[in-house]
Amino acid sequence: MTDAAKITWRATVLSLYPDAFPGVLGTSVIGTAEQNGLWQLETVDIRDFAVNRHRTVDGPPAGGGAGLVLKPDISAKAIDSVVRDDRPLLYMTPRGRPLTQDRVRQLASGPGLVCFCGRFEGLDQRVIESRGMEEVSIGDFVLAGGEVAAQAMIEACVRLLPGVLGNSESALDESFEDGLLEYPLYTRPREFEGRAIPAVLTSGDHGAVDRWRRTQMEEITKARRPDLWDAHLERKGESPLRSEDNERD
Ligand code: ADE
Repeated sequence: MTDAAKITWRATVLSLYPDAFPGVLGTSVIGTAEQNGLWQLETVDIRDFAVNRHRTVDGPPAGGGAGLVLKPDISAKAIDSVVRDDRPLLYMTPRGRPLTQDRVRQLASGPGLVCFCGRFEGLDQRVIESRGMEEVSIGDFVLAGGEVAAQAMIEACVRLLPGVLGNSESALDESFEDGLLEYPLYTRPREFEGRAIPAVLTSGDHGAVDRWRRTQMEEITKARRPDLWDAHLERKGESPLRSEDNERD
């Protein structure tokens, strides 16, 4: 084993609810991988850095309005308590850049990540700027806090670490790895509630199976995610047809 292979991928999560961890990260292949030393999770309780008797961590938004804002001094102290070791500092927020499989791949190939989970209305902008935080969203919807988002992001990274998934192919042959959504899956019985497995999948003709799957991936991506389909065509050097369609409208 090389030295590089021995370095453990590390996730440090700052949260007001550290009890929410490991949560789903303690189960199945991800939990087993941590037990096997393939990655490490550590949590930091932001409230431990509160200074007053009431352990207050939030204040009203400057300029008025609803909700509460995490105090900059306390957030900054919590962040500064973490030894970064070249790991990126991420802030989970619906305002962030959408997380993509490309970013997940980059994060998984590095030393790990440090991740700040917001609650209330959010984090004081000055901390985001002064600590150079990368704002990350896991989708266009609003969660009650960043904890579930952090678990989603960490799970997406850990499953890509070498040795985490048993069958190395299962990390490749799936949605997004080729910029397309995955084809439909079936298993026995051959007929279920009157619905048969598509005949090509039981034909034994591997070439025909591959072609069918490819067509399904393309059709599903075109129908559900025209944005991904256009990007796929562009990568292949073909101009997206959709723009022409739009012009015709
Ligand atoms: N916190 C609340 N909603 C979120 C989202 N959609 N993504 C990341 N963090 C969040």
